[in-house]
Amino acid sequence: SGAGGSCGSRNLIFNGTTEEVKKIVNTLNEGKVPSQDVVEVVISPPFVFLPLVKGSLRPDFHVAAQNCWVKKGGAFTGEVSAEMLVNLGIPWVILGHSERRLLLGESNGFVGDKVAYALSQGIKVIACVGETLEQREAGSTMDVVAAQTKAIAERVSNWNDVVVAYEPVWAIGTGKVATPTQAQEVHFELRKWLEKNVSPQVAASTRIIYGGSVSGANCKELAAQPDVDGFLVGGASLKPEFIDIIKSAE
Ligand code: G3P
Repeated sequence: SGAGGSCGSRNLIFNGTTEEVKKIVNTLNEGKVPSQDVVEVVISPPFVFLPLVKGSLRPDFHVAAQNCWVKKGGAFTGEVSAEMLVNLGIPWVILGHSERRLLLGESNGFVGDKVAYALSQGIKVIACVGETLEQREAGSTMDVVAAQTKAIAERVSNWNDVVVAYEPVWAIGTGKVATPTQAQEVHFELRKWLEKNVSPQVAASTRIIYGGSVSGANCKELAAQPDVDGFLVGGASLKPEFIDIIKSAE
């Protein structure tokens, strides 16, 4: 990619209490990391902690919501609209996380609609794709990932504010990380898909980041893959090793 691994987008998904969140933000604020033109760091707490994190996080790190509503806000009790995120000054949102696709039944089309709507409101999107273990074992990894990406591509014309996160479901929270070769294979195919179905320019400039059991121990080798442009980090983002993961962009 144009980024060539030098400009990653990373994410922190944390759970927990206000006290825990404050502690994590302190650790992040003290971390020595490369400058913003080398690595873009995006921290994504649950909705309820967004104002706290946004208000206390160092200015060179940004924040993301973990989801938002599919269209203009209104009478959708329990949902958080893109307009609300704009109002709070939240620049990023994660959409199509596998937990939402699988546990909450979000279809490819629904995720595509969400991506399009969030972009239309000026919010940058980290759009997640990825296959389950059964799908991988059946040999359909690329078909699944292509169908998920196609549903986005059909609805999106401007890819400037889109980061694609490849997160194989079998690697999320399992400790079973994709090998660097497995990750590179899918990232390469995804980029080829974008080149053929969107444009060579979009394929070259869109960051494709990897998520699924990324740790301080495995991040360097993954980051060295030519088509891995950054990481979407879950469990390890709660620990001080997240700083090492950020540094792997260097
Ligand atoms: O979105 C990040 C998450 O899905 C990956 O989680 O714990 O495997 O790094 P984890």
